Amino acid sequence: MNTVFDPAFLLREDLKTLVPYNAPYYASVIKLDANENPYPFPAGIMERIYEEMNRLAFNRYPDPMAVKLRERLALYTGVGPEGIMVGNGSDELILNIMLTYGTGAKFVVTSPTFAMYGLQGRVAGAEIIDVPRLEDFQIDAAGVKQAAAGPDVKLVFICTPNNPTGNTVPRDVTEDIIRSTGAIVVVDEAYGEFGGDSCIPLLQRYPNLIILRTFSKAFGLAGLRVGYLLASPAIINDLLKVKQPFNLNVFSQTAARVVMENRQAFQERIQKILAERDRFFEELSAVPGVEAFPTQANFILFRTPLPAREVYDGLLKRGLLLRSVEGPALSRCLRVSVGTAEDNKLFIEKLSDVLTQASRG
Ligand SMILES: Cc1ncc(COP(=O)(O)O)c(C=O)c1O
Repeated sequence: MNTVFDPAFLLREDLKTLVPYNAPYYASVIKLDANENPYPFPAGIMERIYEEMNRLAFNRYPDPMAVKLRERLALYTGVGPEGIMVGNGSDELILNIMLTYGTGAKFVVTSPTFAMYGLQGRVAGAEIIDVPRLEDFQIDAAGVKQAAAGPDVKLVFICTPNNPTGNTVPRDVTEDIIRSTGAIVVVDEAYGEFGGDSCIPLLQRYPNLIILRTFSKAFGLAGLRVGYLLASPAIINDLLKVKQPFNLNVFSQTAARVVMENRQAFQERIQKILAERDRFFEELSAVPGVEAFPTQANFILFRTPLPAREVYDGLLKRGLLLRSVEGPALSRCLRVSVGTAEDNKLFIEKLSDVLTQASRG
C-alpha cells in the first residue's frame, strides 16, 4: 500500500467531534481549580502508609477485589462489602457504569453539572438527554422524571452537592425520582462529606440506585485515584463484567485503607474546610461586582462583571489557577476551591486586583 496512513479513516464516527477533557497542569501555581483537600496529608498517617508499603510485593498484581479496603469501606458506609466496588477514581466507575448500561442507550443529566458524565457517556456510545436545572440551580424533578420515563433511558445522573453549582438535592426529591423510574439512578456524592443528605439509607429499599463516592476530596487522595460505588450486589455483578481486573494498584488500595482506619484526622480537616468555606464565602460576596452562590461543598461558584476567560487569565498571570465554568446557564462564572486561609486571602486580593484593573480600562 503506498497511500499515507491516516487514522481518521478508522476513528469511530461519533468520536470525531469529541474534545478530550482538558485539565491544565502547572508545576507552580496555587491550585484552586480541582476541589482538592488543600491541607498536607497528615504526617503520622503517611508514615503508617509507608510502613505498610515496606511489606508489599510490588512484583505481584494487586488484589483485584480490594477485599481489605472494601471491608473498611463497609464499616464507614454501613453497606456490606458485597455492595461495594472500588475504582481508579470515580471517573473510572462512571465510565464502567456507562459501558455496562449506557452503550446504545440514553442517559439523563441535569446541567450545569459534572462534565464527566457527558464525556464518558459519549466515549461509551450513549446518548445524552439534558434536563437543565432551574434558575436557582435546583433540579427540575418533574422534567427529570419525564425524561427518565422515555424510551431507551437506562441511567439518570444526579450530583449532590452538585459540581459546579454547590447546591444539594434533598433526599426525598431523589427518592421520588428513583421510585418513579425503571432506570438506574446514579447519585454522585463526591462532595458528600462536606454537606447534604446521603442517599445511603435508600440503598436497602431501591435496587436501581448507585451511589458514587471518592477519596479525592475530603480524604485528600486525589493523586492516588481512589473512588468507590455502593449498589445492590446484582448491579455490582453486572459492573464486574467491564471492570479492569487490576484497576486499583497496591499502593492506592493500601493508602485508602489506612485513611479509612484513621478517619478522625480527616474529620478535623473537613471541619476546618467548612469553617473556612463560610468565612471565604462572606469575603468573596463582599468583593464589589461579585455574586457568590451558596454552597454545601468545598468550592464556590461565583459570577463577575467580566468574561470568565478574562478573570481566569488575569488570575493565572498572578499565580492562581481556577476553573472557568462559563456556559449557557453560567455566564461570566468561575469556580474556586476552598483553599487554606492564606491561599483564599491571596485569591481575594488578586481577584479584586483583576476586577479593578479592568474597570480602569
Ligand atoms: C462530582 C464529581 N464526581 C466525580 C469526580 C471524580 O472524582 P475522582 O477523583 O474520584 O475520579 C469529581 C471530580 O472533580 C466530581 O466533581
